[in-house]
Amino acid sequence: MGTRDVHDDLHTDDDDQEDSELEDQESAKAEKWKNHYSSNHRILLVGDGDFSFSLCLARAFGSAHNLVATSLDSYDSIGKKYSNGLSNVMELQERGCLVFHGVDAKEMSQHFFLKTQRFDRIVYNFPHVGFIYPENSHCQIQLNKRLLKGFLANAKALIKKEGGEIHVTHKEGDPYNKWDLVKKPEKRGLVLQQVVPFFKDDYPGYDNKRAHGKLSDAPFPVGEASTYKFKVQTSNTCNN
Ligand SMILES: C[S@@+](CC[C@H](N)C(=O)[O-])C[C@H]1O[C@@H](n2cnc3c(N)ncnc32)[C@H](O)[C@@H]1O
Repeated sequence: MGTRDVHDDLHTDDDDQEDSELEDQESAKAEKWKNHYSSNHRILLVGDGDFSFSLCLARAFGSAHNLVATSLDSYDSIGKKYSNGLSNVMELQERGCLVFHGVDAKEMSQHFFLKTQRFDRIVYNFPHVGFIYPENSHCQIQLNKRLLKGFLANAKALIKKEGGEIHVTHKEGDPYNKWDLVKKPEKRGLVLQQVVPFFKDDYPGYDNKRAHGKLSDAPFPVGEASTYKFKVQTSNTCNN
């Protein structure tokens, strides 16, 4: 009887441990959401500044194995321009994120690795070429329009045709409404599915960056901004 009791006790301890390991594995696998983004989505982040937006998602998901984060900036410039840039990149990589630098949104569908992948979400927050001409000038608007056009064409090649969404977060008002974010994509086989107000506070730790000039590390006023969600037009796409 005594022997049986000891055996039962040991058996129960093992069971408890196995149960708790299984629970840990299940909770690691459980889907987690951060606003529009799920830990089950394969997500490409484009035009990152100091990588704080990507890191916010990684922390929310508890892992970054589903994320590919990219910047136009080289690794060296991330270190020079942003106080937290390199530590953010390191934490992302430790959490399993693939990070690529020198990725041009206008050519990214030809990138050696990205071209082998298809994503559920492709995200570019506050596309902007940098302050080359005055923000309201024709030349500056043309450059920003070219960036958006190139990004959307390349994102279209890399997004999953079924259920994939391309997200551009963009400031509202003049001159940003002259960048043809809505009118032109619809001519190029993308459908604007939804426009959702954007609130920076929804993404703890996200530091939106000017990314250019002496004030690269400074935030810009987000003001009124929205996330524009596009999907690829298919023969079944309903425009209503
Ligand atoms: C206003 S900043 C926003 C940075 C970051 N997305 C954020 O929200 O903090 C614009 C970003 O676009 C990037 N950028 C400009 N031209 C680009 C291009 N051709 N391809 C990829 N990124 C580009 C800049 O390097 C910069 O990081």
